Amino acid sequence: MKEVVLKHPLITHKLSILRDKNTGTKKFRELVGEIAILLCYEALKDAKLENTIIETPLEKYKTKCLNEDNYAFVPILRAGMSMVDGIIKVMPNAKIGHIGLYRNEETLEPVEYYYKMPENIKKREVLVLDPMLATGGSAIATINRLKKDGVKKIKFLCVISSPIGIKKLQEAHPDVKIYTASVDRELNEVGYILPGLGDAGDRVYGTK
Ligand code: PRP
Ligand code: URA
Repeated sequence: MKEVVLKHPLITHKLSILRDKNTGTKKFRELVGEIAILLCYEALKDAKLENTIIETPLEKYKTKCLNEDNYAFVPILRAGMSMVDGIIKVMPNAKIGHIGLYRNEETLEPVEYYYKMPENIKKREVLVLDPMLATGGSAIATINRLKKDGVKKIKFLCVISSPIGIKKLQEAHPDVKIYTASVDRELNEVGYILPGLGDAGDRVYGTK
């Protein structure tokens, strides 16, 4: 399944500010949230609508609505939470599951420390959120865990990805469509994306 790379002047503009090392925490969080909304907009293009009848001030009107209960958003902690901040602005009733993973800095392997999903998770379409897809380890581990819980339909939304991260994720989970705002050049020797934006978690939470 081919990844979807968002190409739009608004995305390029927001990414340029996001990548800049002089961009502070407040602006960084806002931009990740805004890009997440645009990724979500694209990822929900195929969403099924349900028939409904409403009344305008003038007449009854047959229309369609999205049933937010059919979805769950799963940020990979920590940095994924910054994407939720944006998404709940457009999906205010979204159910949110959390998975906590950190990368072992020597092996780059993800280590799980938290997992809590909304009820009936296997009946929902799950959109996994993480600003960075680097080696692909965190994304693959998250999706393995969700599939173990019986989740059938999964999409992966990230702000910046690497070519190897995309390849690894597609090999491990060919059924999972990837939505990204940028595919960057490469990874460096310690698994950071180049040109990238640095450590997303540290920039969101100001921890370094
Ligand atoms: C970052 C990022 C991803 C992961 C990507 O998280 O938010 O979860 O690295 O790297 P990978 O594709 O090589 O697995 P990190 O482990 O730094 O944790 P944090 O969000 O708590 O800072
Ligand atoms: N995680 C990050 O936060 N940044 C990278 O460049 C790679 C992994």
